[in-house]
Amino acid sequence: MRVIHTLAELRAALAGPAASRPAFVPTMGNLHDGHLSLVRQARALVGPAVPVVASIFVNRLQFGPNEDFDRYPRTLARDCELLEGAGCDIVFAPDETELYPQPQTFKVLPDPALADLLEGHFRPGFFTGVCTVVMKLLQCVQPQVAVFGKKDYQQLMVIRRMVEQFALPVQIVAAETSRAGDGLALSSRNGYLGEAERAESVQLSLALQAMREAVRAGERDIAGIERRAADALAARGWAPDYLTLRRRADLLPPSPEDLAAGTPLVALAAARLGTTRLIDNLEV
Ligand code: PAF
Repeated sequence: MRVIHTLAELRAALAGPAASRPAFVPTMGNLHDGHLSLVRQARALVGPAVPVVASIFVNRLQFGPNEDFDRYPRTLARDCELLEGAGCDIVFAPDETELYPQPQTFKVLPDPALADLLEGHFRPGFFTGVCTVVMKLLQCVQPQVAVFGKKDYQQLMVIRRMVEQFALPVQIVAAETSRAGDGLALSSRNGYLGEAERAESVQLSLALQAMREAVRAGERDIAGIERRAADALAARGWAPDYLTLRRRADLLPPSPEDLAAGTPLVALAAARLGTTRLIDNLEV
């Protein structure tokens, strides 16, 4: 496995016939088994002869002024060991001046109908930062396929729409969320949780399961289901941003007609436990 820090070196390493365009897994590092399963999935998609590239870049543009950009763990050496074990061929780990040699004043503005709700509402500018860096990384790596986790459900949808609208020649593949034994979705931010918080954190996925079960049992009072889930977490000391049931296709609230027709839904949640903000989702 090669670890590459510059765009020039990356382009030289990837020069070759179109058929050998790589599979790509973008990350911000501080890797866990969820990321490694994306890498393994990338490998399975393209087979042994095509390179798998993972990027590690903590993207300042997607962090708000009061978010954890400075304390986000940088663990490059350990990340590289894990990536090598997962079958990655090339790690692209540019520093900030390599990826943003000038202030990045050209940005990708995502469709507000998708990007200004849920995460975008609570983290203004987040998806502009994500789209801008993903667009740039796709230009650098020029992959035939890129794998994104469903854990960041809205991010996956925003990126899919960006790729469609800009006709980017890359297939976006969605990977299922990896979970710990108790059901907590794996996330780099789980490392911020203290011991008691870690034990409590499973309640987020339990709340999503309760929402899913209520819909599956035929309950139609969506606002009531959402309120019950948020109240239950708040009573345990969480500060929920949202626990909500949305249509999978566009993340808008389902109408009574949608419910009657069985339109596919997803339950999405973001809530703070102590100082750590966790997100998760479950397709209904
Ligand atoms: O999901 C992430 O880790 C980041 O948002 C991504 C896609 C690597 C862009 O910085």
